[in-house]
Amino acid sequence: MKLPIEKLKDLHTPFYCYDLTLLRDTLKVINDEIEGYPFKVHYALKANANPVILSEIVKSGMGADLVSGNEVLTALDAGFSPGKMAYAGVGKTDWEIEAGIDHGIYCFNVESVPELEVINEIAARRGKTAGIAIRVNPNIDAHTHLYITTGTTDNKFGIDIPVLDNVVEKAKTLPHIHLRGLHFHIGSQITLLEPFRMLCEKANELLDHYEARGVHFEMIDLGGGLGVDYVNPEENPIAPFRDFFNVFKQGLKLREGQTVHFELGRSIVAQCGALIARVVYVKENSVKKFVILDAGMTELIRPALYNAHHKIVNLSSQEKEKETYDVVGPICESSDVFAKRIDLNGTHRGDLIAIRSAGAYGEIMASQYNCRQLPKAYTSDEL
Ligand code: LLP
Repeated sequence: MKLPIEKLKDLHTPFYCYDLTLLRDTLKVINDEIEGYPFKVHYALKANANPVILSEIVKSGMGADLVSGNEVLTALDAGFSPGKMAYAGVGKTDWEIEAGIDHGIYCFNVESVPELEVINEIAARRGKTAGIAIRVNPNIDAHTHLYITTGTTDNKFGIDIPVLDNVVEKAKTLPHIHLRGLHFHIGSQITLLEPFRMLCEKANELLDHYEARGVHFEMIDLGGGLGVDYVNPEENPIAPFRDFFNVFKQGLKLREGQTVHFELGRSIVAQCGALIARVVYVKENSVKKFVILDAGMTELIRPALYNAHHKIVNLSSQEKEKETYDVVGPICESSDVFAKRIDLNGTHRGDLIAIRSAGAYGEIMASQYNCRQLPKAYTSDEL
């Protein structure tokens, strides 16, 4: 991502900065890779719901993957078509289900039997039928961070395979439910292809199993999870979509008319965003030097919450000499640390710092802790 220091330096920090050219290039790569296949991509709004980002994604023709009633409304406002919306989540409340049904969304990804019954009841009251997919917990370890692993039996998500037959049978008997297919999501920031291969095998197994029992699914939804390169964002600004989709092109045994849905979030938006902050102080104690920024865990919580790595660069300093710093925020929490012991060009009060790969789960997870203001955002088109 290109960061025009001349244009950034007078803006009030901290703020997010989005490179729309990179976002457009990323969307094009995805659309090129899926062309000619019965593949449909839903953008996972939870990664970033900035209106400008959403409007670019709408233009690309993608659908939306949603996890709350307000996300459904936000996606509608942004112009996503309800016929391309999938709505997951273990705790959908009545008004959220009503919103989905009233707007005619394509699919609820159902996570429990009680939820299935409530969707049926609400749809009946409104004289409608709700499209659903049953979210399966495939018990596949995605080998990612514990907090973003979702597809093992230790997690709250989905329905375990041993009871799946009963839930499928039940869904077929409910008059206001239209069972479209099965849904999976095994985790996030998955950088190995093996978990996705295992997911293909599991999906094939289940499709065979149900086909043999006379149940034909019109779709399967394989979730999201493709990881990005947080260490070398400049070298790898676009995630390895070709390798990712090839796993499914080669591995899935699809039936006539079946569509395959993906719910990608991070891999679409992570690399197009950076958090720009200013150095407030450089402070030295007896063992190390701290760079203290005016951005903290309130603007980007990933390092504090998941120990996540984000590349940090000093945009202002031309100094050849590198120095080793801990880069921290101003929040009153010891975990308010962006990086420990990293080398930066000699850094001074007032320097502009970019924290890269912050387009996904950055701005959207910002909080007002310590009575902070939510960060602003600018795009490359307006800078
Ligand atoms: N579908 C479902 C059902 C999900 O739960 C998620 C993410 C996605 C799709 C999109 O996954 P992606 O393609 O973005 O990996 N805040 C964490 C990530 C949480 C992911 C939650 N679910 C982080 O900052 O790493």
